[in-house]
Amino acid sequence: MLRPVLIIATLVGVTTAVIAQSDPITERRNLMKGVGRASALGAQLVKGETPFDPQKAHDVLRAYGDAAEKMPGLFPDNSKEGGGTSAAPKIWETKADFEARFAAWNTEIKAAAGSVETLDGFKTAFGGLTKACGGCHQNYREKV
Ligand code: HEC
Repeated sequence: MLRPVLIIATLVGVTTAVIAQSDPITERRNLMKGVGRASALGAQLVKGETPFDPQKAHDVLRAYGDAAEKMPGLFPDNSKEGGGTSAAPKIWETKADFEARFAAWNTEIKAAAGSVETLDGFKTAFGGLTKACGGCHQNYREKV
């Protein structure tokens, strides 16, 4: 009985890997949706609509950091269209600048980690980190 189980396990593993690799559009859209949700939470914390909790502040930073790290690797040449993507063609024209924006954002995110234990600290960090959204979207995202 051992052998079929192993074969199935191997097949499932391979399929998962192929899907993860062949669907960068879904992956990057999901990462950005996570960034969107984290930003909504961040805004609630800043406005006092949700009681401040350092754990939640770190959740926001974690979603940002995860996206900043993984996004640059999710724009292969065969992912310019389809899958509901709003990625602009300019990404592939000035890839180095596009990637540099994520790297710079990631540096800011990491630097902010030590300052979000208090609401005041989080307000400052959140205000700074959310400046990157519009700047990048303006250049690299189609109007939707
Ligand atoms: C360095 C570039 C960059 C930064 C910084 C960035 N984004 Fe994005 N974002 C993109 C790109 C590119 C897309 C389009 C991805 C696609 O559709 O393939 C996108 C898509 C999105 C989407 C739509 C996801 C979907 O398809 O439903 C949301 C929401 C979003 N971003 C929110 C944010 C927020 C909020 C921030 C800041 C806290 C942010 N993004 C920062 C590049 C960036």
